[in-house]
Amino acid sequence: MLNQKELLDGNYDFSTYIDPTSNKYKWRVQTYNQEYSRLKKFLPSKGRLMDIGCGLGTFSELFGDDWEKYGIELSDYAKSVATQKGINFDIKACEEGSFDLIVFRGSLHYMEPLEILSYSNKMLKPGGIIAFLAAPNTSSIYYKLFNDLPMLEKDIKHFLISDKELRKILEEMNMVMLEINKPYLNTPYARPIRDFGCFIINLFGARLKFPFYGNMFELFARKNAGDKGL
Ligand SMILES: C[S@@+](CC[C@H](N)C(=O)[O-])C[C@H]1O[C@@H](n2cnc3c(N)ncnc32)[C@H](O)[C@@H]1O
Repeated sequence: MLNQKELLDGNYDFSTYIDPTSNKYKWRVQTYNQEYSRLKKFLPSKGRLMDIGCGLGTFSELFGDDWEKYGIELSDYAKSVATQKGINFDIKACEEGSFDLIVFRGSLHYMEPLEILSYSNKMLKPGGIIAFLAAPNTSSIYYKLFNDLPMLEKDIKHFLISDKELRKILEEMNMVMLEINKPYLNTPYARPIRDFGCFIINLFGARLKFPFYGNMFELFARKNAGDKGL
């Protein structure tokens, strides 16, 4: 199991990201596609994006050649794979206010939120979109009852934040909420009968990890667009 030092040394475990024959790989790719189709309706057909904690760059790759893609990532291995997919890591060359989209996919909970959110706000264009995908949700019933979430690693300090807390921070930055989702039933991970069974077993003290409604959220917001949003 990964610990804090290994994470900060860029040793995130990408084993489930690289074997295209495994179910975990197939479900992940299916999930990226579902997320992309929910997000793209808010986006121009081309622009400049920054994927923070981009991993191997597989999500950003979905945007195709019309998007100029930048990433921030701790792992040198991930950066080398993502570079081959057209992700550029030379963010210093980019001006403030020059990004149409900033994405956090499964990564915000590894970072100090206020710091990285205010950096993101600075780098976004007015009217630009900020998107949080596959974010662990502390307002879920699972977290409230079991004080844990399936995607959280042991021995890592996570910066956990609920959908409501994130919304409040973004609104204080004058961002406009566009959509908040809690994907579960239509994801490839959901097995409602099995998951409900696990839920009951955990109520009796077990500590099984399993997908459940509300565990993950996604949130899309727009910077200073002048509309009212949600
Ligand atoms: C769960 S993975 C998600 C990867 C990718 N976004 C995806 O969904 O395929 C989290 C990623 O965040 C990266 N990460 C964690 N802390 C980070 C930090 N402080 N700065 C940059 N990247 C970080 C990890 O190395 C890892 O690649």
